[in-house]
Amino acid sequence: MNYTLITGACGGLGGAFTQILAEKGTPLFLTGRSAEKLNTLKTSLQEKTSHVEVFPCDLRDEESRAAFFAHADSLGATFDRIIYVAGVDTQMPFEQYDEAHIMTQTRVNFEGAASFLRSFLGRSPLDGNTEILCIGSITSIMPEPYFALYAATKKALEYFCMALRTELKGRAKVTVVLPGTMPTREDIKASIEKSRGYSRFTILSPEKVAAKALKAVKKNKKRVIIGFWNKLTNFGVHLIPMSWRLHFGAKVWKGSQKDFYGT
Ligand SMILES: NC(=O)c1ccc[n+]([C@@H]2O[C@H](COP(=O)([O-])OP(=O)(O)OC[C@H]3O[C@@H](n4cnc5c(N)ncnc54)[C@H](OP(=O)(O)O)[C@@H]3O)[C@@H](O)[C@H]2O)c1
Repeated sequence: MNYTLITGACGGLGGAFTQILAEKGTPLFLTGRSAEKLNTLKTSLQEKTSHVEVFPCDLRDEESRAAFFAHADSLGATFDRIIYVAGVDTQMPFEQYDEAHIMTQTRVNFEGAASFLRSFLGRSPLDGNTEILCIGSITSIMPEPYFALYAATKKALEYFCMALRTELKGRAKVTVVLPGTMPTREDIKASIEKSRGYSRFTILSPEKVAAKALKAVKKNKKRVIIGFWNKLTNFGVHLIPMSWRLHFGAKVWKGSQKDFYGT
């Protein structure tokens, strides 16, 4: 059976994708780090779709990634859509990073995506209707002081998807979506509460972003920014010199700290 594979399925945006597709009765293969959270999610979806498989995977870990696909193979699972949602967003001066912060963010945001996509391709029909959807971030539209590694990993993901799209032309649709702020986790909701500026206008619900992203990959869009204010931001930053962008970017992010990368 062909499944839709979703990483980060227990998270805010991943959960929104999961709910939308479960409502349609789509066969789902879901992953995250916690077997307990995945099993709870599976139970909650049973009334909506009878075809849900879950298996934990730590995307930082090569062996864990291999175990995920070995389990899928043992069930005879194939995939016609992958939605790579998992991501880690640490936001603080780079001097405060340790090795764990560097390794976690680069591996989950980029290495895990490349690895999962490669394994996915070998288990997909690649018949022109296969869909690859990756979640980047609006932060990747420019280098972001104090959010530097996150923005760089998301830029790497964006360029990777756009290049892969050309390699897979006619066999798979490949879309990268660059969401702006979404009120998913409590720490993000708290920082939205504190923010008084322009960024308040750019906020969109994860449900809206997930619905638009699914439509975008169906239409085989290359790179998608969702929402009027996010599109305006993208347009605006390219009108000002890079030195100004970096100066104002540093002012925006310097005060905020986000150190959420799980355990
Ligand atoms: N929220 C925003 O404002 C915003 C804005 C732009 C882009 N994004 C991007 O949108 C995506 C979803 O973010 P979200 O807001 O929904 O955050 P979230 O609720 O924290 O979801 C992130 C997901 O990543 C998974 N994950 C983290 N480390 C992992 C690891 N080592 N192995 C496997 N999975 C791991 C988590 O799974 P478990 O905890 O279940 O293991 C979680 O489900 C991310 O890629 C993020 O960068 C978010």
